[in-house]
Amino acid sequence: MPAPRHIPVVIIGAGPSGLLLGQLLYKAGIDNIILERKSADYVLSRIRAGVLEQVTMDLLHEAGAAEHMDRDGLPHHGIELLFEGKRHRIDLHGLTGGKSVMVYGQTEVTRDLMRVRAAEGLTTVYEAANVQPLEFDSEQPTVRYEHDGQVHEIRCDFIAGCDGFHGVCRASIPEDRIRHFEKVYPFGWLGLMSDTPPVSDELIYVNSPRGFALCSQRSHTRSRYYLQVPLTDKVEAWSDDAFWEELKRRLDPEARARLVTGPSIEKSIAPLRSYVAEPMRFGRMFLAGDAAHIVPPTGAKGLNLAASDVGFLSRAFIDYYKNKSAHGIDHYSEQCLHRVWKAERFSWWMTSLMHNFPEEGAFHTKVQEAELDYVVNSRAASTSLAENYVGLPMR
Ligand code: APR
Ligand code: PHB
Repeated sequence: MPAPRHIPVVIIGAGPSGLLLGQLLYKAGIDNIILERKSADYVLSRIRAGVLEQVTMDLLHEAGAAEHMDRDGLPHHGIELLFEGKRHRIDLHGLTGGKSVMVYGQTEVTRDLMRVRAAEGLTTVYEAANVQPLEFDSEQPTVRYEHDGQVHEIRCDFIAGCDGFHGVCRASIPEDRIRHFEKVYPFGWLGLMSDTPPVSDELIYVNSPRGFALCSQRSHTRSRYYLQVPLTDKVEAWSDDAFWEELKRRLDPEARARLVTGPSIEKSIAPLRSYVAEPMRFGRMFLAGDAAHIVPPTGAKGLNLAASDVGFLSRAFIDYYKNKSAHGIDHYSEQCLHRVWKAERFSWWMTSLMHNFPEEGAFHTKVQEAELDYVVNSRAASTSLAENYVGLPMR
């Protein structure tokens, strides 16, 4: 085995959390390495959400990775809610004193971060096998991994666990040091991507008697649609035609007439889950993004929460190295969780508001109808939706 090297921060996982953290630290002069289990192509093949809050856009600017987002991202000032056959606009911009969101795919964010990392000559080890965070309760943690048939070890000051929901970092914590909070929903989302113009300029969140649907987009020529489906459905059983027919049934007549269909370029089913691990710091190892929490995609918060965790973590490390202060790292977990739980609440609420829960019975459906009516007709209620959708500030 080669002699262990020392690198201040070892980041495990090259999803958006790990890549953004690596770049923010590099900009602040803090050396880091990223260890990723999969190949870069595999990481880029995962299609996920596409709505960025201002906080996320600001961090991408700070990371020097915002050029393509500024050029190709689509600013959105409102969203629509469709229920009982009618669409209602939520004026995000007007209700929040001028805030908006940016429609720009997570795949593109990841590609942009990979590009700037490569351009700076920073190291990412792809296809790193059997990555193990070790001795993170000591002053000098170690990360061991295998690559090209050799075992490697890196000594570091800190380990950043950016390795997603199924990663090794959270799994390395003894059960008596961690609490799990979880809610699993009784349905999934079937997503379809197509090179067709979006049905509408703004996103449409649909509550229909046949279940939830979402009309989203990636550009003026690429659409992303979703359908609520039972967890027992298999993606192979959904032909493109069946998808489009079911989507049409859930839309209002105008949208149905405008919908342009075409062959799918991606189709997949994802389960919906709410999950939080507490705390997010274990000695010198810190969890960030999906490694620490999952939200159902209804509020478009997953990527944004990952970004704000990383924003807090990069500041904490900068504080440590530049100001010799442990204040940031000592408050990291508390700071993140405060924001995480707000987003968990909002995502759970949007999910409860917009989906069919047949097992909950007719009372639930009636309450949902009353709440939807309240949300679009009360300025206070629409403001609450809008301020959460555009994203709460980072404290
Ligand atoms: N060793 C090294 N890398 C690992 C390991 C491991 N043992 N386990 C997982 N990884 C890698 C995964 O292959 C993946 O590339 O960690 C990365 C985690 O990336 P994401 O799952 O995208 O998580 P994160 O970067 O936190 O991004 C959160 O993703 O799921 C969405 O809604 C979520 O948009 C949010 C974003
Ligand atoms: C998406 O475009 O993939 C998307 C948008 C908004 C959501 C979820 C997913 O709430």
